[in-house]
Amino acid sequence: VNLPFAPTLPIVTPRLSLRRFRTADLDPLLAFHSLAEAVRFVPFEARTRESMATALDRKICSSVLRQEGDLLEFAVSSTRDGTLVGDVLLALRSVENATLEIGYLFDPAHGHLGYATETVRALLDLAFSGIEAHRVIARIDVRNIPSRALCARVGMRQEAQLLENSWFKGEWSSEASYALLSHEWPTA
Ligand SMILES: CC(C)(COP(=O)(O)OP(=O)(O)OC[C@H]1O[C@@H](n2cnc3c(N)ncnc32)[C@H](O)[C@@H]1OP(=O)(O)O)[C@@H](O)C(=O)NCCC(=O)NCCS
Repeated sequence: VNLPFAPTLPIVTPRLSLRRFRTADLDPLLAFHSLAEAVRFVPFEARTRESMATALDRKICSSVLRQEGDLLEFAVSSTRDGTLVGDVLLALRSVENATLEIGYLFDPAHGHLGYATETVRALLDLAFSGIEAHRVIARIDVRNIPSRALCARVGMRQEAQLLENSWFKGEWSSEASYALLSHEWPTA
């Protein structure tokens, strides 16, 4: 991997802009981070204003990859009117194995428009072409059908299903593991 790595922002796609977070994102982020349905399969509970502010501070600072565990976090906004529609990240899981993980959470008010698909394609471009990752993974609760559909839509492959491998929000959860390799991605 190409470290340290700080992306040139914004990254612009046909309908969206991936940019750094800023303090003014608090209210639009809270609008969907506070919804039980939106956070059902992500590793935190519905946010309060206070926990959202703490999380936003971290997002604002997550702009460079230097070492394992570092995150690059992006606000996804509409290029038409600037509305914040989603929140995505790339996490550096292994330097030795050049492996990144993707994560995403979109406002359901702007769902089913292909915004998440458009964004994840841009993240894969960045991961493979800019960061020079070898492998990008996604780890998804098997019950999270929209997220699994998204990974399949962008060409990620389900490589495993791990049965009840994590104690998650008060019950055992099974994981569908998705991955894509750099030589499988057209622009890498
Ligand atoms: C996972 C998540 C991002 C998927 O959102 P989504 O709205 O289904 O995804 P997209 O924005 O890419 O929209 C795709 C849908 O819009 C449709 N669509 C409409 N216009 C489209 C376009 N121009 N391009 C692609 N798809 C389009 C697709 O057909 C698809 O619908 P379908 O699933 O009925 O086939 C969303 O459900 C979410 O944020 N969930 C909560 C957080 C979460 O669970 N994160 C994952 C943790 S692992």
